[in-house]
Amino acid sequence: MALEFTVTERADRASDDARAKILADPGFGNYFTDHMVRIAWDAASGWHDAAVSAYEPFQLDPAAAVLHYAQEIFEGMKAYRHADGSVWTFRPEANAARFARSATRLALPVLPEADFIESLKQLTSIDKSWVPEAADGGEASLYLRPFMFASEAFLGVRPAKSVTFSVIASPAGAYFGGGGVKPVNLWISTDYARAGEGGTGNAKCGGNYASSLAGQLEGIAAGCDQAVFLDSSTHTYIEELGGMNLFLVYRDGRIVTPELTGTILEGVTRSSILELAKELGLSPEERRIPIQEWKDAAAAGELAEVFACGTAAVVTPVGELRWEGGSCDHRREGHTDEVATRIRGTLLDIQYGRAEDTHGWLTRLA
Ligand code: COI
Repeated sequence: MALEFTVTERADRASDDARAKILADPGFGNYFTDHMVRIAWDAASGWHDAAVSAYEPFQLDPAAAVLHYAQEIFEGMKAYRHADGSVWTFRPEANAARFARSATRLALPVLPEADFIESLKQLTSIDKSWVPEAADGGEASLYLRPFMFASEAFLGVRPAKSVTFSVIASPAGAYFGGGGVKPVNLWISTDYARAGEGGTGNAKCGGNYASSLAGQLEGIAAGCDQAVFLDSSTHTYIEELGGMNLFLVYRDGRIVTPELTGTILEGVTRSSILELAKELGLSPEERRIPIQEWKDAAAAGELAEVFACGTAAVVTPVGELRWEGGSCDHRREGHTDEVATRIRGTLLDIQYGRAEDTHGWLTRLA
């Protein structure tokens, strides 16, 4: 049976002025709306006490298992305001399914798809005024962050018997600030892997992101924006960036992304791009990509574009690739990120309701 939500509207919402100031330049992940969703789970009662209430800190016992053993998962989604004022999200069934797979991998309980989607509708409805207007070509949205963690106070290592599910929402502009769509430079992380075979690489759990940070710091020290991680066993094949998938576009129309080996996150944007690419006359390929192939194809002038993608990053062109003692750049005089721009535009047009949703990818939230 679907959960019933108790809704308690807060009396002290942000003023229209305060909200407008935030929406004018939200950045990414800095500000949060007036309310949040909470659902409790315990081994005896299952999911219960579904509630929408004021956004506030959790009261967490210092022994809460998540703080010690990182039993935690999350999702990243966006709510888009259409021209008629209605608010929609993109492929929430895919996020619900991935959330369920992540839960199983982290030994957390599975939240049914209907309750997952209803929680997004509940929060977006009460905080609809926080969903930004979409400016032309921009990507202003309300970023939705569903997450689940082990809240039981217990230090033995076993799956927690009490768990909290929550959704918070954050008005968002571009993930990479600075205005416009600027290429990011990538650092090849050779000292650190993000995930290994049989590990949690294909689950969306906080631990994967924590393990990407040292590589990212190395990249930043080398003047890059992000690190690209290689497979942990041979250090040969491209996997993904810390929080984004990667595509290589060849001049002959091939558009190639690392295949899902169990150590890579199955991005919803990634799989949508694989579908859209065919419709745009490109030839998508999912396969293992040696990092050497990138360097060689860039040197030979065969590589037209590289881009990163994800819910937060949408489609972001990649510029230079750097590594210990070397670098390469596929861009030549007169370079334009034409394919990335076309795919990004196609995706955003569907998400903001400017193009027909022929795939049935949109769900109305409010
Ligand atoms: C997303 O693209 O939504 C992500 O989860 C990536 C990052 C912000 C953690």
